[in-house]
Amino acid sequence: MKAVVVQRFGGPEVLEYVTLPDPVPSANQVLIKVEARSVNFADIKARQGKYHRAGEPPFVPGLDAAGTVVETGKDVTEFSVGDRVIGFPAGGSYGELALLEEVLTYHLPDSIDFHTAAAFPTVAVTAYQILRKVGQLEQGEIVAIQSAAGGVGTTAIQLAKHFGAGKIIAIVGSDEKIRIALEAGADYAINRNRESFSERVNELTEGKGADLILDSVSGDVFEQGLECLATFGRIVVFGHAAGKSGTFKTPSLHAKCKSVLGYSMGTTRALRPERLKNSVYEVIEFIETEKLKMVVSKKYPLSEASAAHSWIESRESYGKILLV
Ligand SMILES: NC(=O)c1ccc[n+]([C@@H]2O[C@H](COP(=O)([O-])OP(=O)(O)OC[C@H]3O[C@@H](n4cnc5c(N)ncnc54)[C@H](OP(=O)(O)O)[C@@H]3O)[C@@H](O)[C@H]2O)c1
Repeated sequence: MKAVVVQRFGGPEVLEYVTLPDPVPSANQVLIKVEARSVNFADIKARQGKYHRAGEPPFVPGLDAAGTVVETGKDVTEFSVGDRVIGFPAGGSYGELALLEEVLTYHLPDSIDFHTAAAFPTVAVTAYQILRKVGQLEQGEIVAIQSAAGGVGTTAIQLAKHFGAGKIIAIVGSDEKIRIALEAGADYAINRNRESFSERVNELTEGKGADLILDSVSGDVFEQGLECLATFGRIVVFGHAAGKSGTFKTPSLHAKCKSVLGYSMGTTRALRPERLKNSVYEVIEFIETEKLKMVVSKKYPLSEASAAHSWIESRESYGKILLV
């Protein structure tokens, strides 16, 4: 099969389009012909050698895929050849074929096309998990979302609305992204590179702060987030796009009942894969009923994966980028 391989850690140029032997499913795996896969920010980090769950090169990157089952392992019971599926591949999705553990494979209804299907698994399921399961969003609460024009961001805005958020404040890195976040349904959008987002969040909430902050940037952005977190508020850290750690002092948490929480889909996939199933099927229902619309900004042929990576690293990208 043709596939994109990270030959060594480095810039987008280390992605090479090569021919690899066709993978063979083990007893609990399905082999799928991949119709489309999405580019996630974690793929960039993996290529740079900065993703905590990626192995050493050479490896095929890619966290999610949509396609058709072409072979099943001998112990697979829920899937047959010809089934349309989505899932989280065991060994990367930037190939014409991908292996998926049965426990991380999900039926895809005919009503959802492959491109939409490839766009949502990682970002929408992450958004679902951090809002609902980790962040415990309650009706009427104020949610602030960092990098809100991106893949996770645009889905988190929409899901937060359906989960009953009272106010959704998008925080982004440029003026162009303000429009994307507002179109996705945010009530307010702040360019954190133009004004202090913590001051603005406090202003918009009459000094109360946000009840739930979704933070994928970390570093200074995390620390500023604590300055606009409400009493009883939760800040969920689920990425470190800034490449820096954020720190906090414990007294700032206990007196006001604030919580700092973490989430990694990679760790959940590896150690608690069964926890994702309900969320995946609920997200599928949101998409089928058009309550969740995937924002896809660009599609590239698989062979041009390096251009797709460069586009995300430019920080001009928004929504999802697909490799088809
Ligand atoms: N924990 C998990 O399970 C999990 C799962 C999926 C994604 N994530 C994380 O969630 C975030 C969003 O993922 P995504 O795939 O949807 O990506 P994305 O949001 O489409 O793209 C990443 C965004 O990060 C922001 N950013 C901040 N500092 C950056 C920097 N120094 N360099 C590049 N970008 C920077 C940019 O938005 P602004 O310019 O608006 O800041 C950029 O658009 C990523 O940090 C990712 O690692 C975590």
